[in-house]
Amino acid sequence: MFAAPAGASPTRPRRRPARGRFLATALAVLSVTASLTLTAESTAVAATADGHGAPGARGLGDPYFPLAGNGGYTTRHYDLDLAYDPLTRRLDATEAVTARATQRLSTFDLDLSGLTVRGVRVNGRTARWTRDGQELAITPAKPLGKGQGFRVDLSYGGVPEDVTDPDGSADGWISTDDGAFVAGEPQGAMSWFAADNHPLDKASYTFEITVPAGYTAVANGVLASQRTRAGKTTFHWRQSQPMASYLATATVGKFDVQRYTTASGIPVYNAVDPREAADAAPALARIPAILDWESDLFGPYPFSAAGAIVDHAPDVGYALETQTRPIYDRAPGVGTVVHEMAHQWFGDSVSLTSWQDIWLNEGFATYAEWLWEEQHGGKTAQASFDGYYARPATNSLWAFPPADPGEGANIFASPVYTRGAMTLQELRTAVGDTDFFTILKTWARSHRYGSGTTAQFIALSERVSRKDLGALFHTWLYTAGKPARP
Ligand code: TRP
Ligand code: ZN
Repeated sequence: MFAAPAGASPTRPRRRPARGRFLATALAVLSVTASLTLTAESTAVAATADGHGAPGARGLGDPYFPLAGNGGYTTRHYDLDLAYDPLTRRLDATEAVTARATQRLSTFDLDLSGLTVRGVRVNGRTARWTRDGQELAITPAKPLGKGQGFRVDLSYGGVPEDVTDPDGSADGWISTDDGAFVAGEPQGAMSWFAADNHPLDKASYTFEITVPAGYTAVANGVLASQRTRAGKTTFHWRQSQPMASYLATATVGKFDVQRYTTASGIPVYNAVDPREAADAAPALARIPAILDWESDLFGPYPFSAAGAIVDHAPDVGYALETQTRPIYDRAPGVGTVVHEMAHQWFGDSVSLTSWQDIWLNEGFATYAEWLWEEQHGGKTAQASFDGYYARPATNSLWAFPPADPGEGANIFASPVYTRGAMTLQELRTAVGDTDFFTILKTWARSHRYGSGTTAQFIALSERVSRKDLGALFHTWLYTAGKPARP
């Protein structure tokens, strides 16, 4: 569906010409395994023996976003206290990050882009800090010991500027005519909070967002409280399960709010821009049915809340699977809601280890749409596959292989979405329905609230099916050009 003519699926990510570089991908699946082992520990600069510790690495070494995330620590929890004025577009924030050092640490970085930092404390004591691009380097009064838990308090403010991604799209804190559309994939979280900004480092979150009365502030998870006083409303949201920074939102607007609990007990909170409400109603009405259907297919819903944020932000050009509550830049169709909700299992609960693995998010969510059609009176997933397979070898669908997009600018292009889904259809054909659906469920269960790699998915598929699937995955995921008919 992602490669459908523009307009066919209005909330789809904006299609951009794939600039595939046809990287010669003679990579064997095994050699790929080696490149997917980046962890906070392995990329941290080794501590020196002088007692002061060493600086944490400035980035986690992701090949596409080398400065994303930081070395030397992992985060546990972010507590974000935000005040936003939609008229002046000013954001004022205090933030507390709870973390643990993974090495003896003299200095460590958080990612923060723009805004003015007013002060930083570590474990209650004033800390020195410097800024260089997106790196906010913090030097605590005393070095942190390896394994030590610590807390960083920050105060900052200003008019947030969204981040421009390698493909030219905007993400992060994107102001709108009545607030802000807040969606951080892949890099934008750092435009509104100081983060260890890579999906490898997941944490729980609490949000306290204050806006002028009449506006609604919507974040992830459960709404713990809402209080209006002296012309301002504070919304208190809690996301208890681990979340990657790019999936956080604090969207502000004039929204109609719908709240209910599904028959299976999941609280739903929908915030809908009144300009989109009529068009959005049919798809939003399906949320409980989609939750049930996806839970049957993929296993228990991983989170304790659900819903949708339907904004009116037509310039954004995409939707995002913000955790528990996907955000849409306009009224979505059912297929898009199926896609974003499938990401709750594939992408949100089971996160990427490296951005190169983005097909594990987008291929799976796209395949969920094909399955929805197949099981709701539409064409079979095989028919979807066949339709795309008919495209000539010159089509941008074949510009690069899905598990080797080659650069950050390609991570949202059609080979990742559509050829990624085609890979799953090929897997299903090879192993049969029973094993295929066992693989999907086992993947969601065994990496729940964590991360996964392509190599791990291949290994799981081979374990469940007791088949050698190396050639299939090598062809569909890593080999340049249109695969030959099997
Ligand atoms: N992950 C989103 C989806 O498929 C798409 C997306 C997020 C996107 N950020 C983007 C697409 C930036 C293009 C540019 O649901
Ligand atoms: Zn997606």
